[in-house]
Amino acid sequence: MGNGGSNSIKTVGLAPKLDSGFYGQDIISVRQFSRENLAYIFGVADEMRAVVKRVGSTDLLKGHVLACVFYEPSTRTSSSFVAAMSRLGGSVIPINEVRYSSVTKGESLADTIRTLESYADVIVLRHPEAGASQVAAEYARKPVINAGDGVGEHPTQALLDLYTIQSELGQVDGLKVAMVGDLRYGRTVHSLARLLSLYDVEMTFVSPEILRMPLDVMNEVKAKDRLVHETYDVHDVMADVDVLYVTRVQRERFADQAQYDSVKDYYVITAELMDRAKERMIVMHPLPRVGEISYAIDDDPRAAYFRQMENGMYIRMALLAAVLGKA
Ligand code: NCD
Repeated sequence: MGNGGSNSIKTVGLAPKLDSGFYGQDIISVRQFSRENLAYIFGVADEMRAVVKRVGSTDLLKGHVLACVFYEPSTRTSSSFVAAMSRLGGSVIPINEVRYSSVTKGESLADTIRTLESYADVIVLRHPEAGASQVAAEYARKPVINAGDGVGEHPTQALLDLYTIQSELGQVDGLKVAMVGDLRYGRTVHSLARLLSLYDVEMTFVSPEILRMPLDVMNEVKAKDRLVHETYDVHDVMADVDVLYVTRVQRERFADQAQYDSVKDYYVITAELMDRAKERMIVMHPLPRVGEISYAIDDDPRAAYFRQMENGMYIRMALLAAVLGKA
């Protein structure tokens, strides 16, 4: 795996399982993944799901410690990492209110990371600046997992999204995927579009003009010879899409409140809109939602976002076990 230049094995403990290629690696960007190693991680995630369903937990990572450092709010990502580590028998240093730690006293990210790695075997980091995880990884001797770096990437979310598509629809090749909403600031769609470009997928980016998918992501997808369309009208995709991936308008990224107000209610997926959709398709959302999917469709079997959320824990169990050399 390449991870932007630093793919030497980091120090994580004894008796590693080296052959998966993940041992001691940082997880910074979806660019590190190939179809082969995704299939491997998804296989491990299936095993994790089976273990959790059957017995709840295992002691695979007994004695290992995860530092879970969140400089931005999180519910699902942080709690699923904590749950993942706990169900693998390890323990967690949770740091969620970073304003109470020394970062606000001027301590640099590098020093914070160096501190935490002297206590933990692996660090999960969410940070408001794009590129922060890569910087942290360069300083850290232990593996760093990017849990969202500003408007940059959210690789573990994209992995769980792809795993959800695969588990729900049985395949990824041949699908039509529409991403709807804030494609400019939404890091989950930046990662997912890149990851999906490894497959034979036709993508439509549905957004208002000011929230279009960034050109660098578009160009990366096109460079893989994938068909890409853009529209501002969600009606254009409803009838033939296999995956409708809806996102929240990222209020915290707007400098101008009036601009946010002009787009915040641009799309709402309603039961009436769902009447136009195929019987076999899924609606996804990384969550939290703030109005863009009507509660009325939660009971529709095509609403996959709660199953998607659960899958996050199995994927994160697989990733933790892999970077710590136990899978
Ligand atoms: C996303 C995030 O933080 O980027 N949420 C998540 O991780 N489940 C999406 C969002 O906040 O809108």
